[in-house]
Amino acid sequence: MSEASRIYPVQDRIRSQSYLKSRADYQAMYQKSVSNPDEFWREQAMRISWFHPFDRVSDWDLAQASVRWFEGGKLNVSYNCIDRHLESRGDQTAIIFEADEPEHARHISYRELHAEVCRVANVLKSFGVKKGDRVCIYLPMIPELAYTMLACARIGAIHSIVFAGFSADAIRDRIIDSQASMVVTANEGLRGGKRIALKTVVDKAVDGLDVVKTVLVAKHTETEVNMVTGRDFDMAEEKARQRPTCPPEWMDAEDPLFILYTSGSTGKPKGLMHTTGGYLVYASLTHQYVFDVHPGDIYCCAADIGWVTGHTYIIYGPLTNGTTTIMFESVPTYPHAGRYWDMVQRHKVNIFYTAPTAIRAIAREGNQWVAPYDLSSLRILGTVGEPINPEAWEWYYQVVGKSQCTIVDTWWQTETGGILITPLPGVNDLKPGAATLPFFGVQPCVVDQDGQEITTTEAKGYLCMKAAWPGMARTVYGDHERFKQTYFSQYPGLYFTGDGCTRDRDGDYWITGRVDDVINVSGHRLGTAEIESSINAHEWIAESAVIGYPHEIKGTGILAFVILNADAGSPSDADVSNAVRGQVSSDIGKIARPDMVLVCPGLPKTRSGKIMRRILRKISIGAYDDLGNVTTLADPSVVDQIIQVHKNHK
Ligand code: PRX
Repeated sequence: MSEASRIYPVQDRIRSQSYLKSRADYQAMYQKSVSNPDEFWREQAMRISWFHPFDRVSDWDLAQASVRWFEGGKLNVSYNCIDRHLESRGDQTAIIFEADEPEHARHISYRELHAEVCRVANVLKSFGVKKGDRVCIYLPMIPELAYTMLACARIGAIHSIVFAGFSADAIRDRIIDSQASMVVTANEGLRGGKRIALKTVVDKAVDGLDVVKTVLVAKHTETEVNMVTGRDFDMAEEKARQRPTCPPEWMDAEDPLFILYTSGSTGKPKGLMHTTGGYLVYASLTHQYVFDVHPGDIYCCAADIGWVTGHTYIIYGPLTNGTTTIMFESVPTYPHAGRYWDMVQRHKVNIFYTAPTAIRAIAREGNQWVAPYDLSSLRILGTVGEPINPEAWEWYYQVVGKSQCTIVDTWWQTETGGILITPLPGVNDLKPGAATLPFFGVQPCVVDQDGQEITTTEAKGYLCMKAAWPGMARTVYGDHERFKQTYFSQYPGLYFTGDGCTRDRDGDYWITGRVDDVINVSGHRLGTAEIESSINAHEWIAESAVIGYPHEIKGTGILAFVILNADAGSPSDADVSNAVRGQVSSDIGKIARPDMVLVCPGLPKTRSGKIMRRILRKISIGAYDDLGNVTTLADPSVVDQIIQVHKNHK
């Protein structure tokens, strides 16, 4: 897919407001950012407040996985997100909390945010949390989540947010890896009218873990939960004891801000570590230009803060820029499939950012869920997390945007901290499905199998980056060698993204998806190895192979081929499927549950024992006659057997 099916010119309505007015405007700024990066970033760094100026703009060597920005500079992220706005916009809404029940929506001003964050910061301090300590946050999308992460930033503690859909085992692993001494959670979460027993999950996660000294519990519903004396404390009671002011800790630009775990091809999830100065400058600049945010805009990123999108584009970018940002607690289909548009109408949202999965899920419910709402406030529509199929793009553009809004298809990753390849409002004609152009300072390249850069304009290969940018992750927490191995060893001197791409004749980039054993399910990133190791832990299972297959709503569905142990007895296929799904839910979380489980007599392995996933992927899409060469398999006959199982399942 390197050519757009249709190209939509930038609308005058967009261009009349946008910071950049043409591709030439973009090119001039981009050229400056890559021909003299230090000068460019020195200027851009001035968009945030520094307590002490930095001595050096950048110092990096990708071959060594060594990246440093704005060294010598001192700043505080929560000061930048809150305090510096108090004088000019203290009474402006900082956060609109769009609660699960739409009528419970609430506005939080910058001044209130300041008081709440300071109180939580003082609570953390009162329990002995100090600069550099790790705090694990397992909260739903409620204001306490924003308060707690900003409170950590205020006192220099490193937050590690775990998406509130992960299992007890997944939290436990993350707590152990980061050695977090405190966990902040809620009694219950609410999503789509359902209650989620978060505290019960945390109890299981921390059971017997000496490292966790304190569990703070925000009371989000009336439900009483078990509180362990001496360990568990009520957040509201603790906050009530604290003053609403707390001096911000002066942090070095390269001090850690947060750890966020993400899945890779191998092993357990990695704790990507982001630092302070470069991350914030990058979050702020990208947020302003990609979403063309102007003072007074109402901005809504409907992601969850448990993922990087929420970190950078619900909290840090928007608040640094003094924007009104929405925290969406619910799901797109509650109480009905018009929820997003009802919200857009009620809050007069100008900029709306979500994942293709959500768009597909509501598009299929029909246009009648969009039609009743006044969406004329919308100007910019964004997508993120996975490639967007042209049908979903067109629906977003025409039905939601009424052909009056621009769409920014933003490509980036947990590792990149912020958006790297994206259209910019006013700059690009729109090509459905194309991420288009690198952001300022970003230098992508396409490399072939051998790691040679393809220098022709039109290219197809692996997407890498040639230069560091301020927002990139600095390391894998506690394992720098893994960081280097994963991202910088494949193609020495380059950052390897793990994605494939094509570059078309206009020089626009199209992301084609992961080229490793990572799958993207509903925009959530999962490692197939991680799911396999969970499945294999079940007593009935001898071995498994997990792949992604095309799924109408989720983009990618999870398909597990499993082989039973000889002593498993004869469970029915349904029993095996339930057992496998249950095992994965408990080890990782429901998001990683296979959509389809096929019990097979064997797996297609080479003589050296490597599973040929290529063959499984072909079978999963019914391309039985297009399996390529199977003669290198140890037992080619297994292929026909698997095909039979797949056919029977359909
Ligand atoms: O494969 C790419 C896909 O999501 C991966 C990153 O996942 P994660 O770290 O969870 O971050 C998601 C949100 C930033 C990428 O390697 N991806 C992300 N955005 C896009 C995308 N694929 C295609 N188009 C996008 N716009």
